[in-house]
Amino acid sequence: MLDFPLFPESASTFAPKVDALYFFTLALTAFFTLLIFAAVLFMFVKYRRTEENQVGDPIHGSTLLEIIWSVIPFLIVMLLFFWGAQVFWVGVSIPEDAREYLVTGKQWMWKIQHPEGHREINTLHVPIGEKIKLTMTSEDVIHSFFIPAFRVKQDVLPGRYTQLWFEATKTGEYHLFCTEYCGAEHSQMIGTVTVMEKDEYQDWLAGGIVGSSPVASGEELFQQYACNTCHENSGDTLRGPSLKGIAGNAVTLADGASVNRDENYLRESIVRPSSKMVAGYQNLMPTYQGQITEEGLSHLVAYIKSLGSEADANENSGHGSSDHGESHDDEAADAESTESTEASAE
Ligand code: CUA
Repeated sequence: MLDFPLFPESASTFAPKVDALYFFTLALTAFFTLLIFAAVLFMFVKYRRTEENQVGDPIHGSTLLEIIWSVIPFLIVMLLFFWGAQVFWVGVSIPEDAREYLVTGKQWMWKIQHPEGHREINTLHVPIGEKIKLTMTSEDVIHSFFIPAFRVKQDVLPGRYTQLWFEATKTGEYHLFCTEYCGAEHSQMIGTVTVMEKDEYQDWLAGGIVGSSPVASGEELFQQYACNTCHENSGDTLRGPSLKGIAGNAVTLADGASVNRDENYLRESIVRPSSKMVAGYQNLMPTYQGQITEEGLSHLVAYIKSLGSEADANENSGHGSSDHGESHDDEAADAESTESTEASAE
């Protein structure tokens, strides 16, 4: 590698696409810059004043010339527009089959969790040749997650999820930057992305300390906050709909609007339940704003997403209800007693 590289390495499937467009734009710009400079110099000489009292000829318009210098630039910028839009579209279309990592930004570090539960701070280990999706949020201010070698960058915002995806094509270590000014130590909010061979990555996973997976942590929280009191997985209750198979599906709200229940909808429904009420239900759910950490919210969302599709719900309803039924009732009773003590306290 050069000591002073002009361009970052190209280490993802997305990088060559961005580079091709970038270098084309660069070449185009250089070409027209040189053309205009050359034309200016040429006309300096050719049309210079050669004798005193010389008066220039009046200029008459040329429709043909005007059409040419309008149509050619129009075609060039439309090419750039459609090409750019196509590259952008690849970047924002998150593949369905991608492995999902959770990223939480805070002043001033990146906290990352693997789908198996491994946690890292300011480092990210990924296998080569696999589609990786990052679901990101912030605990405080706006950050931005940037891996130059992959040509991916995405703002990380408090109060909602943003996503980014990549597929690494080259093993090695790459820079990870926060690229949105986020306070005094913004410049320290940096890290490393390590791309490993698949078996090497498996070894790395095996050698690490495994915490609970996001889904397992989410399920724990689900019990802890007694969400199952109103959201039973076996079916809709009077108080709340079943959460089984809802993730990613549309639902009709009380005001008649239809909304897709993506990660942001699920998160909002936990912290501000009354903002988008599902049709047919009353506004009973308390807000959990400030009670659950950002990571906890991400885990709950991961758990709800893991609850499968509606088809699965029907298949599993048989044994699902039989061995969970009683524990539900116990917890429901517990939850009710806490709810009522809270209510009386108020
Ligand atoms: Cu976080 Cu800059």
